[in-house]
Amino acid sequence: RTAPAVIVAIDGPSGTGKSSTSKAVAAQLGLSYLDTGAQYRAITWWMVNNGIDIADPSAIAAVAGKPEIVSGTDPAAPTITVDGTDVSGPIRTQEVTSKVSAVSAVPEVRTRITELQRSLAASAQNGIVVEGRDIGTTVLPDADLKIFLTASPEARAARRSGELKGADLHSTREALIKRDVADSNRKTSPLAKADDAVEVDTTDLTLKQVIECVVTLVEEKRTGQ
Ligand code: DC
Repeated sequence: RTAPAVIVAIDGPSGTGKSSTSKAVAAQLGLSYLDTGAQYRAITWWMVNNGIDIADPSAIAAVAGKPEIVSGTDPAAPTITVDGTDVSGPIRTQEVTSKVSAVSAVPEVRTRITELQRSLAASAQNGIVVEGRDIGTTVLPDADLKIFLTASPEARAARRSGELKGADLHSTREALIKRDVADSNRKTSPLAKADDAVEVDTTDLTLKQVIECVVTLVEEKRTGQ
């Protein structure tokens, strides 16, 4: 049985279970998986590593085309490299996390990363689940299915501090809200729900329930219901 390739866009702020959900849905349905946040983190890691002044958008823009960023799209083992170096660990540090909003707000960075995203989506044989902030609105406006995940700030902070071992709940919540405000208010393709996206509030749902909900929505699309 060969199902037609399906493109799924999953957007939303951090702590909504976007990555866990997207990966599990892709694995269950035999689709590729792309974590676009990891790409923005990777380019941010490169900027930090090369001493680029993060406070200077023109300095960032000038070198936005330099690093070669490659994403492996197997949901069972997603990978990310910069100029051949595996950066899956270093892109999760607090330093990168605190700088990624500034780097990802630079239009030259977005153009570059958006091109990578579109070409990966176009070459995914069975289809792909792409997670991020602007996938449904900007990167893949013709996606077959768009999901926008939300959750209360309290639920999101609790999930994040569970992931970051020993992190303090209050400061996690503050940092998360700060990043959402920056991501939602930038000029170029901010975090936003597409008009035709299905909004799923995950505050009172388990991860398993969110996965089931999205899998059902994809299957309905595939069978044309
Ligand atoms: O999903 P994440 O927390 O790993 O994303 C890191 C940052 O990357 C996030 O704060 C904003 C940026 N980002 C973006 O601007 N556009 C995307 N499609 C994905 C992430």
